[in-house]
Amino acid sequence: MAATNFGIKSAIPSRRFDAVIVGAGGSGMRASLQLAEAGLNVAVLSKVFPTRSHTVAAQGGIGASLGNMSEDNWFWHMFDTVKGGDYLGDQDAIEFMCREAPKVVYELEHFGMPFDRNADGTIYQRPFGGHTANFGEKPVQRACAAADRTGHALLHTLYQRNVRARTHFFVEWMAIDLIRDASGDVLGVVALEMETGEVMMLEAKTTMFATGGAGRIFAASTNAFINTGDGMGMAARAGLPLQDMEFWQFHPTGVAGAGVLITEGVRGEGGILVNSQGERFMERYAPTLKDLAPRDFVSRSMDQEIKEGRGCGPNKDHVMLDLRHIGADTIQKRLPSILEIGHKFANVDATKEPIPVVPTIHYQMGGIPTNIHGQVVTTKNGVNEVVNGLYAIGECACVSVHGANRLGTNSLLDLIVFGRAAGNHVVASNLKARSNKDLPKDAADLAMSRLSKLENSTGTERVQDVANAIRSTMQQYCGVFRTDELLQTGLGKIMELDERRKHVSFKDKSKVFNTARVEALELDNLIETAKSTITSANARKESRGAHAHRDYEKRDDENWMKHTLWYSEGNRLDYKPVVTKPLTVETFQPKARTF
Ligand code: FUM
Repeated sequence: MAATNFGIKSAIPSRRFDAVIVGAGGSGMRASLQLAEAGLNVAVLSKVFPTRSHTVAAQGGIGASLGNMSEDNWFWHMFDTVKGGDYLGDQDAIEFMCREAPKVVYELEHFGMPFDRNADGTIYQRPFGGHTANFGEKPVQRACAAADRTGHALLHTLYQRNVRARTHFFVEWMAIDLIRDASGDVLGVVALEMETGEVMMLEAKTTMFATGGAGRIFAASTNAFINTGDGMGMAARAGLPLQDMEFWQFHPTGVAGAGVLITEGVRGEGGILVNSQGERFMERYAPTLKDLAPRDFVSRSMDQEIKEGRGCGPNKDHVMLDLRHIGADTIQKRLPSILEIGHKFANVDATKEPIPVVPTIHYQMGGIPTNIHGQVVTTKNGVNEVVNGLYAIGECACVSVHGANRLGTNSLLDLIVFGRAAGNHVVASNLKARSNKDLPKDAADLAMSRLSKLENSTGTERVQDVANAIRSTMQQYCGVFRTDELLQTGLGKIMELDERRKHVSFKDKSKVFNTARVEALELDNLIETAKSTITSANARKESRGAHAHRDYEKRDDENWMKHTLWYSEGNRLDYKPVVTKPLTVETFQPKARTF
């Protein structure tokens, strides 16, 4: 499948839509469903077949205060989300999300999503990290689950509904860059068909990024290989800021050595973490929530156990997740994928042996700044401005509901709540009554110059060498615990890699496969995400949520209760205030985080 001159023709073909959505995971397909059902002409681009998007890997559940197992309410959910995020989340957006949660879950149920059931027919809900009743008093069962394959069930449900609604899918297409006019309005994207190498302009009255996260900037990650930060890269190249990129969540239980996710649902069902002395050490760190404290807390506790010599295995570099006492019947019924992952990736029978686990990069709390309608916003002199024609939803966006650390199950919830909200906002803007704006002459220039530079490069760098160096640098210098020295050294190394990245080339230009070209384009997105992460982390002189800084051990609300905004041009930073005022209720004031 070598490309035909990259599809570079004198006139680049173009197609017009009401809306183009980049990404076919949970948020993209929830938004496209809303648009297609409203009769809009909507195209969804995806690098992979839609049901292979990374949402498929979400295991444990989607959070909503249905109260099917015991009393629960959205206000407790809101409290847990604000506290879990270490008070950096915007409380208006968090209130919106937690209030919407029961409605959107029942909607999924009515779409046919195969949730597990209680004996009375209601949706089964399991405990999860940081989910509590009565403002932290005791754990509550809030995670609505389809065994340990909730993301899989959700994605298939949405895909089928989209097929019914006649959403137009462009499968194995990669968006390269945004099209903007002189006034800054977004008019669509330039995209590459991965099979043929054809380049096309997809014109749209609304463009929506739903491109997921960038977990592949780290070496050990639960993320799919497609998670290369494409939306963030395109936004950064278009001059837009990225918000709160220093906050990356380590999931406590990745399979040691493999990185594959072992759902928090295991601990929800009763699994426990033990050190080499057989001690359930989370009882010491979090006496109330124990193994179900929020992820940043559990990951740091595990790291501490390992650092203090109580790790397991010959290298004492992991701890054990023990679920034997749950019983084989429950494991087979509620956690069938975990049984399989244990076999395939750790060579253990989880009904008889514990699983070796380590904290593993899982989720980015930051992303492209948006309001609660999903519209991308920039901030100038403290004033927020909407970027006309551009939305971002899901993990690539920062609304911000997750603050400095996301609660488990709020990721699927974020996808559905804000995918739906963005879809509704676009429908309400009456796109049908407007025609597409004419494209400027230079519409495809940025994308085409990147492609031809790649084609004509005489550099000697290999894409995979630079990409691997980014991953190992980020892992080593921007991990669970950070210091000034680590971050400054790491930042220098990432800036050097940015230079090397400009000289990548293909060894034998007569035999270049489009997949290699795609990887080279992804490299540009990886580097923007890595630069934004380590630059923002280096500047934040406090510890908050997932940003644990050894030189500044405490949270500093006086100086750092603010969102970071990073700009690619000049690798510069700006800040904007956290929204502490919710929509209708009292503010949750920052308090010490104990569990
Ligand atoms: O542990 C898990 O099942 C992951 C869920 C999440 O990230 O929300």
